[in-house]
Amino acid sequence: MLIKKAGDIPASEITPESVYNNRRHFLRAGAVGAVGALAGGLWARESLGGTVMPQDELPGVVKSPLSTDEDTNSWEQLTGYNNFYEFGTGKDDPARYAHEMNTDPWSIKVDGNVGKKGDYSVDDLIKPSQLEERIYRFRCVEAWSAVIPWVGVPLKDVLARLQPDSDANYVAFETLHRPDEMRGQRGRALRWPYVEGLRMDEAMHPLTLLAVGLYGRALPNQNGAPIRLVVPWKYGYKSIKSIVRIKLTKDEPPTSWNIANAREYGFYSNVNPEVSHPRWSQEYERPLGGFLKNKKTLMFNGYADQVASMYAGMDLARFH
Ligand code: MTE
Repeated sequence: MLIKKAGDIPASEITPESVYNNRRHFLRAGAVGAVGALAGGLWARESLGGTVMPQDELPGVVKSPLSTDEDTNSWEQLTGYNNFYEFGTGKDDPARYAHEMNTDPWSIKVDGNVGKKGDYSVDDLIKPSQLEERIYRFRCVEAWSAVIPWVGVPLKDVLARLQPDSDANYVAFETLHRPDEMRGQRGRALRWPYVEGLRMDEAMHPLTLLAVGLYGRALPNQNGAPIRLVVPWKYGYKSIKSIVRIKLTKDEPPTSWNIANAREYGFYSNVNPEVSHPRWSQEYERPLGGFLKNKKTLMFNGYADQVASMYAGMDLARFH
């Protein structure tokens, strides 16, 4: 498989985010304007001082203009504090146990209302030449937030090649179900497998990403290797990890957190500081790495200009 695992790179060997962020400030200042299409691996090779494992770097990653210019969270923060209930409900369980999941080989079933049904590898769906780095804000429904340098491709480009038919109104996603390797699936924290879904216009929105990397490297298992969804204007739980099935459907598909608690988690799950979770306010967030819930949460997580029109006329409290 071309897109290799990076599950067990020791945190100590990874670029400190300060180097990364300084480099970005430098670029923003226009000092190296010609390096607009900065390869993801370039900074990694420099800052790791010769200790790189080149096979883990994703080649030819182009920087996307759709990125936020906010400073990113560190590799340690993003890979050490996760929600991936298949490995347990603790924030450090995924980092501890996700290496038990085998991601090679990996197969993704594409079925339902789609022309090109079949079983695909990650490389069948995503060509390395398409990879972009997208730095997105990320907001968990539990009120922590992060800024994450993903590597991936717009889902719309993958869907276009798969040819949804005219009855395809939604896209449903499913995570691997393998209790032998995913110890959380031996318990009942959620109904397995984890499932998620998007309306077709949401799936086709240019911001919606299929991610295969983080910080210029293949995704670590705890972040959803080898392929996951990222929908930056929705609460984090919509961003389903370790996808093994993409099904185009006529009807709204079931979603894991809605199945678990429909009152608390709706289908849309758009970040909305004006609609409280039944058990806590969504007005403020705690940036990952900080102690205080002191950052004001923005409507649609700051992506309102790009996405609000998709929900025009909808009662966002009812369709939460
Ligand atoms: N996908 C699966 N399969 N299982 C999960 O438990 N948790 C979701 C989402 N995707 C989850 C999942 C939740 S609640 C969040 S906040 C994000 O993944 C966390 O992503 P991160 O750990 O990369 O920050």
